Amino acid sequence: MQKIYQLGVVGYGGMANHHVNQLAKGNTRVRVRGIYDINPDRMRAAEGKGYATYPSLEAMLADPEIDIVLVAVYNNFHKEVSIQALRAGKHVLCEKPVTMTSDELREVMAVAKETGKVFTIDQNRRVNKDFVAMRSALATGAIGKPYVIESRVEGSRGMPEGWRCHKKEGGGMMLDWGVHLIDQMLYMNDEKVTSVYCKMYSVHYPEVDDNFRLVMTFESGLTAQIEVSTNNFILHPRWYVLCEGGTLQIDDWSGVGRMVRPIADQSQWSTEIAPDRAGPSKTMAKRDPSTVEVIEFAPPPGLEDNLDPTYYQLVDAIEGAPLKITPEQAMRCMLVMEAAFRSSETGEAVKVSI
Ligand SMILES: NC(=O)c1ccc[n+]([C@@H]2O[C@H](COP(=O)([O-])OP(=O)(O)OC[C@H]3O[C@@H](n4cnc5c(N)ncnc54)[C@H](O)[C@@H]3O)[C@@H](O)[C@H]2O)c1
Repeated sequence: MQKIYQLGVVGYGGMANHHVNQLAKGNTRVRVRGIYDINPDRMRAAEGKGYATYPSLEAMLADPEIDIVLVAVYNNFHKEVSIQALRAGKHVLCEKPVTMTSDELREVMAVAKETGKVFTIDQNRRVNKDFVAMRSALATGAIGKPYVIESRVEGSRGMPEGWRCHKKEGGGMMLDWGVHLIDQMLYMNDEKVTSVYCKMYSVHYPEVDDNFRLVMTFESGLTAQIEVSTNNFILHPRWYVLCEGGTLQIDDWSGVGRMVRPIADQSQWSTEIAPDRAGPSKTMAKRDPSTVEVIEFAPPPGLEDNLDPTYYQLVDAIEGAPLKITPEQAMRCMLVMEAAFRSSETGEAVKVSI
């Protein structure tokens, strides 16, 4: 019989509620044992749904039945709660961003090493349909190697009131969404990042970045362009990838997309410029549609955007398998984000070796 691991949830806000609901849908290895939140209203909400609650974090950590602690509090408390939980002998699943800085993460990693407990991070977007579909389509080789990957997440409703709008609590879009999109880029490209340029904007929220534009260059010259916005009323596609042999586009989270590649040469131009929609231009003249092939694709059947893979890789690691979402990977992501903040402050690209 496989052991079922008992989870203690710290912070019962939006994301923790998502974890709790998801686990209740049939995760076979992890069950919620109890919940702690500093906000009494959230404790009452937990009780209302039939979950046990604890009067303090210390009381939860003293419960010998709890094997794993989920840290789903504001970003500025990730370090402190993770360290307390590790020292209490619990394995830890920490929400993203793992911590506020690379120094904080080093402290957590040292305690994980000292206690021998597993410490992992909820980089759940590695299994999102759009990301998996994009990688699988590129892996077919149909359009060759990418040289520019553009990844965008855009909304127009601003940010919810509360910690996301405050610097001290780890607000802003770089730590909220940048962390996912950078993690995806690093996860799919294991070569080193050599330069980071970022421009952040505080359009409606003066304390934090509510929009940013980031360009990350890898050793081979591959460029990743990441843009997050909370003020876009006309959306770009989710993914746009330029490859040597064609172009890939995925419009939205569904992961349904297309690759377009040439099947006949259109590189001959006559001396005289024929009138075109682009005006007097040869290079930008319209292509004959019969000279390209459109390859449509969709995510693998049965793929769901959910948190089970995060929990299963944690349980496997507790039982001795290599951890899949590691603090070392989170460290690379954190170092890129720190370089992005530096770049936005100085207005210059930051040379790195990450
Ligand atoms: N992986 C994802 O896709 C994803 C999505 C959303 C949020 N998150 C992350 O989850 C975390 C929580 O975000 P949220 O949207 O649920 O925020 P939220 O404001 O909805 O919930 C946070 C909860 O933590 C509680 N809290 C704060 N400090 C605490 C402390 N020291 N001890 C106990 N409880 C405390 C608050 O009372 C609140 O109920 C953040 O780190 C965020 O980045 C991850």
